[in-house]
Amino acid sequence: METTGPGPWPRLLAHALHSQIEMHQAYGGVVPELASRDHIRRVLPLTQQVLHTAGCRLSDVDVVAYTRGPGLAGALLVGSGVACALAAALGKPVLGVHHLEGHLLSPFLSADAPQFPFVALLVSGGHTQLMQVDGVGQYALLGETIDDAAGEAFDKSAKLMGVPYPGGAGMAKLAEGGDPAAYKLPRPLLHSGNFDFSFAGLKTAVLTQSQKIGPAAHTEGATERADLAASTQAAIVEVLVKKSMIALKATGLKRLVVAGGVGANRELRRQLNGACDKAAVRVHYPELHLCTDNGAMIAMAAAMRVNAGREEPQAAYGFDVKPRWPLDSLV
Ligand code: KG4
Ligand code: ZN
Repeated sequence: METTGPGPWPRLLAHALHSQIEMHQAYGGVVPELASRDHIRRVLPLTQQVLHTAGCRLSDVDVVAYTRGPGLAGALLVGSGVACALAAALGKPVLGVHHLEGHLLSPFLSADAPQFPFVALLVSGGHTQLMQVDGVGQYALLGETIDDAAGEAFDKSAKLMGVPYPGGAGMAKLAEGGDPAAYKLPRPLLHSGNFDFSFAGLKTAVLTQSQKIGPAAHTEGATERADLAASTQAAIVEVLVKKSMIALKATGLKRLVVAGGVGANRELRRQLNGACDKAAVRVHYPELHLCTDNGAMIAMAAAMRVNAGREEPQAAYGFDVKPRWPLDSLV
């Protein structure tokens, strides 16, 4: 990351990603111990790779940023330990970043970067939140899920339909060939009058519906399976779109930023684009390959925090991680 780019925001020099999806696929979900062991194996070769691509050396690095939380403690400890050891060896400062702030600011890596203030729809595997964002570190929570996240609803429905982990992308692909109106599924809290979400009931409704359908619900190539995927996606997307639009209306803001893995969903993007067009709202997304977890968004959040004077990188290398860490507690 270059902190002084030609535009107003820091600029990405290079980025590299090692996906653990294949490793976890065999188990149908993340196995924490395997995740952190694989992090240990991958982190230094990936660091070398990204420096090579950027044409930089370790000595060119000014600040080492890492994810401090929220997330799995073991995985966080690997990243924090390596970052702090590296920084100590280089004599450079470190900065621990909030994972969701990384997602939230990832659209600033796009050519069409947003401007503050905006409403953010954060839809990752573990979080579904609507936030009012007035600037770097100025995050007010408008509403969030009271149980499962939207990503979880995709993943859990996928699992019971035999779609491999992580289910979101697979469900979206399956849904392309299905009828979204085939099965009537609940739109939880759609008319609750607030900005909270609930997806646990939807997952149960998908389970009940799949039992009614029988084996076709998880048989590859069956129309019923594609229809159920399309109906599930339609329910999730409708709730996300409607709640985002009422949050925009309530705040009076005319800009929406979508971030997190579910933000890669094409149907969500199609419907949001339509609704935002109608309401004269500008909508911004991260580039597709930066929707799911990546290091570039963490470097970007660190650079933006430093540039905004929100935080001084520390030259002290004792570290802790925060497996639980509310985003709106940041300053
Ligand atoms: O932000 P992310 O990479 O990880 C977390 O921080 O949780 O989000 C992962 C989530 C998973 O639930 C995955 O199924 C979902 O994003 N996802 C999608 C799509 N691509 C990833 N959900 C729906 N449609 C997609 N195309
Ligand atoms: Zn994430």
